Amino acid sequence: MKDKKNITRRETLKKMGVFAAGAAVGISGLSAATNRNNRNGNRKMKVLAINGSSRKDGNTADMLNLVLAEIEKEGYETELIQLAGNTINPCKACFACAGNSNCVFDNDVFQQLFTKMTGADAIILGSSTYSADVSSTLKAVIERASVVSDCNPGMFRHKVAGGVAVARRGGAMNTIDTINHFFLNKEMYLVGSTYWNIAYGRLPGEAMKDEEGVSNMKNLGQNIAWLLNRLK
Ligand SMILES: Cc1cc2nc3c(=O)[nH]c(=O)nc-3n(C[C@H](O)[C@H](O)[C@H](O)COP(=O)(O)O)c2cc1C
Repeated sequence: MKDKKNITRRETLKKMGVFAAGAAVGISGLSAATNRNNRNGNRKMKVLAINGSSRKDGNTADMLNLVLAEIEKEGYETELIQLAGNTINPCKACFACAGNSNCVFDNDVFQQLFTKMTGADAIILGSSTYSADVSSTLKAVIERASVVSDCNPGMFRHKVAGGVAVARRGGAMNTIDTINHFFLNKEMYLVGSTYWNIAYGRLPGEAMKDEEGVSNMKNLGQNIAWLLNRLK
């Protein structure tokens, strides 16, 4: 029997160009099983850091590089992606990602980013604090990644995770919380540091002068490497 509700929804999505978009991009086919198998093979485990700041090579990039440097010391492959200069659209709530392994919209860098996220063994999300929360760019990534993995459960299961925030003065706890909510809602192993993974600074380079922040970032990197060593 035909499901009237589904036909209506499909037609609506078709009008929005959703199916056309899905077909045109040739969605990668990454699956949760593929991701979980990453740890069973001999290949090097990968750590992906994403910088949500609108400023390339600013304070958030400095902090993420400190974290990654500690992880590299343990021999892991790392990559830092900076989102500055990219506009990432918000989730359209079409749920056409159900049954696919990615968002169906290919009009920004999200699909590529999501493929990298699901292919990584550990994900570190970093953001400058904007209006006492993550940047709208990182929020759009979190929204879309959340919905794709909600519709296709297990895509982030058992990956290692860490969050980093930079602020001039206030709101960094919210930034960390927003990032952590994503990780915890996706069955990931969230790694902590000594005194919040936060650093303070306004102009580029200033956060490097925050000694406690720098030390927390290094500690976060060491803790992530410690967990990866045990999960190998
Ligand atoms: C749009 C915007 C909003 C900001 N909102 C806050 C804020 O709410 N609290 C705060 O402490 N700093 C705020 N800042 C300052 C940045 O968090 C701070 O300069 C940070 O070091 C930027 O990191 P980046 O160099 O990685 O971009 C804001 C900056 C911008 C551009």
